[in-house]
Amino acid sequence: MTKLSLFPQTALIEGNHLFIGGCDVVELAALYGTPVYIFDEVTLRAKCAEFHYEFTSRYPNALIIYACKAFVNPALALLFKEAGLGMDVTSGGELSIARCVAFPPDLIYFHGNNKTAAEIELALEFGVGRIVADNFSELRLLSKLTQAKGTSQDILLRLSPGIDPHTHQYMTTGIIDSKFGFPIYSGQAEEALVYALSTPSLNLVGLHFHLGSSILATEPYQQAIEIVLHFSAEMKAKYGFELKEFSPGGGFAIQCALDSPARPLAEYAEVITKALQHHCENRHLSPPRLIIEPGRAIIGQAGVALYRVGAMKEVPQVRKYIFIDGGMADNIRPALYGSRYEVLVANKAQDHDEEVVTIAGKFCESADILIKDINLPKIASGDLIAIPCCGAYSLAMASNYNASLKPAIILAKGGEARLIRKREDYSDLVSHDIW
Ligand code: LLP
Repeated sequence: MTKLSLFPQTALIEGNHLFIGGCDVVELAALYGTPVYIFDEVTLRAKCAEFHYEFTSRYPNALIIYACKAFVNPALALLFKEAGLGMDVTSGGELSIARCVAFPPDLIYFHGNNKTAAEIELALEFGVGRIVADNFSELRLLSKLTQAKGTSQDILLRLSPGIDPHTHQYMTTGIIDSKFGFPIYSGQAEEALVYALSTPSLNLVGLHFHLGSSILATEPYQQAIEIVLHFSAEMKAKYGFELKEFSPGGGFAIQCALDSPARPLAEYAEVITKALQHHCENRHLSPPRLIIEPGRAIIGQAGVALYRVGAMKEVPQVRKYIFIDGGMADNIRPALYGSRYEVLVANKAQDHDEEVVTIAGKFCESADILIKDINLPKIASGDLIAIPCCGAYSLAMASNYNASLKPAIILAKGGEARLIRKREDYSDLVSHDIW
C-alpha cells in the first residue's frame, strides 16, 4: 500500500508532479488557485459501478442510492443520475439540488429526523419515491399533509435496532439512545407500523435502519438485519405486514490513512445479502427489494483537497508547523472526529521524506490542525499539499469561518478539468446581508 493508492484511481506521478484524471495537479493549482477540491470522474463512476455489481450480482433486486449528504452539487447529481443510482436526500436543500438536474423523483428517498412541513410539501410536490419516517410527530405530520393534498405516499419506517456499530460516537446512529428512528425494544416501532398501516394516505412499503458511518466491522449489519427481519416477521403474523423494501442504510468505511485499512466492499455485500436471504428464508418472508445507501464509499476516494503552503513556524525541539491556505473551514473532520489523512506534495511527488511536520490551517482556532506529525519531503513556501480521501463530508460540512471563501471544485477526466463550482469571492460573503 502506498500513499498514491489512497488517491483517486487515475492518480499517477509524472515528472515529480501528481496527476489526477490526466491533469497535472500543479497546473490545476496555477489555473484555478487554491484551496481547490479535485474530483476524479473515473473513480466516481467506478465506485457507482462497483456498488451496483457487488450487490446486484449477489441479490439482483437491489438498488443503490447515493447518500448525497456526503457531498453533492448539480454537476455531481447529474453524474449519479447518469450512473443510474437513486439518491438519499436529507433536506429540502438536497432535494432541490436533485430537482435542478431533474433527478428521477421515484428514485429519491427523503430522510431526516425533523423534516419541516415545507420540506415535506416540497417532497410531495416533486413526487419523491419514498419518505422515510423517523418519529411519531413526523408520521402525524405526514398523515396530515398527504390527506390535505389528497395523495398517497410510499413510506419506509426508520427503525433503531439497538446495535452499536463500534465507530466514532458522533457517527453512531442505530443505538437505543439515538435521535434517529423508532426503537424496536420499546414497542414504538410496532406502534408506528400500526399507525402507518391504518393511515390510508400512507403506504408502508418497508423498513430502514442506518447504524452509523465509517463502520469497519460487518457483524453489526448481520445482527441488525436479524433483529429487523425478526420484527418484520412478527408484524406479518400480527398485522399481515408485507416487507416489500428493506434498507440497512450505508456506513461503509474507506481507507484514508496507510495504517487504517478498510475492508473490500465485497465483504459488506456478502454479509448483508447473505443475512437478508437467510433470515427471509427462515422466517418465510418473500425477499424484499434491497436498498443500499452509501455516501462516503462512493465519493470519498474520488476527492482530493489541494492547498498551497504559505508561512511556516518552527518551535525548537517541539514541532515544525506548515501553514496552508485552507483548513478547518473546508475540512472540519480532523478537528471534529480526530480523522487522519495522508499527504503527497503535488510538486515534489517523488522526493524522499525528510522531516516530520504538522500541517495547520489558517483559521483562528488551535484545533485547526489538518495533520499532526507527518513525515514529508523538505517543504518550502509555495509547495502544494494534496490530501486524498477528502471527497466525503469535507465540502459538505464546509463553513465560511473567518469569512473565508469556500473553495473552487474541479471535475477531472481524460486530461480535461471542468470547473463545477467557482471559488466564492468577497461579494458572495455579503450577498445576503442588508445594511
Ligand atoms: N443513510 C443515512 C440515513 C445516513 O444518515 C447516512 C450518513 C448515510 C446513509 C451514509 O453514510 P456513509 O455511507 O456516508 O457512511 N459527517 C460524518 C459522517 C456523518 C454521516 C451521516 N449519515 C463524517 O464526516 O464522517
